Amino acid sequence: MNFILTEEQTQIRDAARDFAVNEIAPSSIERDITAEFPTEIIKQLGEMGFMGMMVAPEWGGAGLDTVSYVLAMEEISKVDASVGVIMSVNNSLVCFGIEKWGTTEQKEKYLRPLATGQKLGAFCLSEPEAGSDATNQKTEAVKDGDFYVLNGMKNWITNGTKADYYLIQAQTDKAKGYKGITTFIVEQTWEGLEVGKKEDKLGIRSSDTCTIGLNNCRVPKENVLGEEGLGFKIAMETLNGGRIGIAAQALGIAAASLEASIKYSKERKAFDEPICNLQAIQFKLADMAVNLETARLLVLQAALKKDNKEKFAREAAQGKLQASKVAVQNALEAIQIHGGYGYVREYLVERYLRDAKITEIYEGTSEIQKIVIARELLRD
Ligand code: CAA
Repeated sequence: MNFILTEEQTQIRDAARDFAVNEIAPSSIERDITAEFPTEIIKQLGEMGFMGMMVAPEWGGAGLDTVSYVLAMEEISKVDASVGVIMSVNNSLVCFGIEKWGTTEQKEKYLRPLATGQKLGAFCLSEPEAGSDATNQKTEAVKDGDFYVLNGMKNWITNGTKADYYLIQAQTDKAKGYKGITTFIVEQTWEGLEVGKKEDKLGIRSSDTCTIGLNNCRVPKENVLGEEGLGFKIAMETLNGGRIGIAAQALGIAAASLEASIKYSKERKAFDEPICNLQAIQFKLADMAVNLETARLLVLQAALKKDNKEKFAREAAQGKLQASKVAVQNALEAIQIHGGYGYVREYLVERYLRDAKITEIYEGTSEIQKIVIARELLRD
């Protein structure tokens, strides 16, 4: 495996870093308080090619590899993990599926505007009774001539109130269990799609999360993604890639926690010297750095395997498991190093902890990642 970045990958990382520092950082504290969606920032990210990074140029994407995506996601999330998740969902949970399983018409109509950032996408798998137990889908899609009629409820939908297009999983044949689940592309303006109220969250507050109700929502049959019964496979394969994106988001939070701790420990004095001279602090910084690098290697390994078209479900789960754990640990240590100042908004590190926690929950909890890893280990 080669972890030396190409010139292009370095340029992408630097461009993401510059944009994050100059354009995202100035409003991030305010948006954490107000929970305002970063509409203008997302528009600019689209113009820069960051909303469809891995989509082929023929469909309006940037045609980049997954390693570049990881590098950009880390830089953006280092400054604002809310922006990170909005970008991750559009890239890995929505564009990926339409590019892989969509018809030419679907790609023209939906993928192109999503990849260029003119439109925003959301991915609707979770339900009130189907979170980790994702095969337990209750949303139904009943065929009616050239349409399917969708009824049900989707939960925890990132980009939910702002999305233009939704990938929605629904049961088309209950008797077949998860093999009877189908994915539909649904537009926000269609009758019967009901956007719920925005959740008031602990962290990633300026990202947007809500329920999506489906009340006799009529979806034309040409909006089936792939084919009938392929929906669960689409969801699982999509989430394998999505987990790399969330792992990179977690890396960003872990890196931000370390950087803030280094800076503060050089400035803050105790016992007549900067606290970075104290071994108690040095040991913490060393652990944070090693844990971050370990997680980063796992995430890059998953990205490289995906780019090489090798199986990567286990590597993606490993990367997400480790990176999300390190994000929480590093954020906690950053608060400890900052002492009382770490507990107030002014120093950002309390936000890192609030933002970090969700990375152990969404796109598969840490417990689900362990199931995925163990199943792959025990296969054959
Ligand atoms: N990659 C590819 N295929 C997978 C897979 C993976 N990671 N995990 C499961 N599958 C396949 C299995 O191989 C099986 O297919 P076959 O029968 O053809 O082999 C099929 O899916 C069903 O799997 P299981 O029999 O193992 O089903 P299960 O119910 O025992 O367990 C699970 C499945 C792994 C627990 C799955 O339900 C799961 O991943 N749950 C977590 C769901 C999740 O991550 N939700 C996140 C919601 S999205 C979100 O958070 C978005 C957001 O807005 C940020």
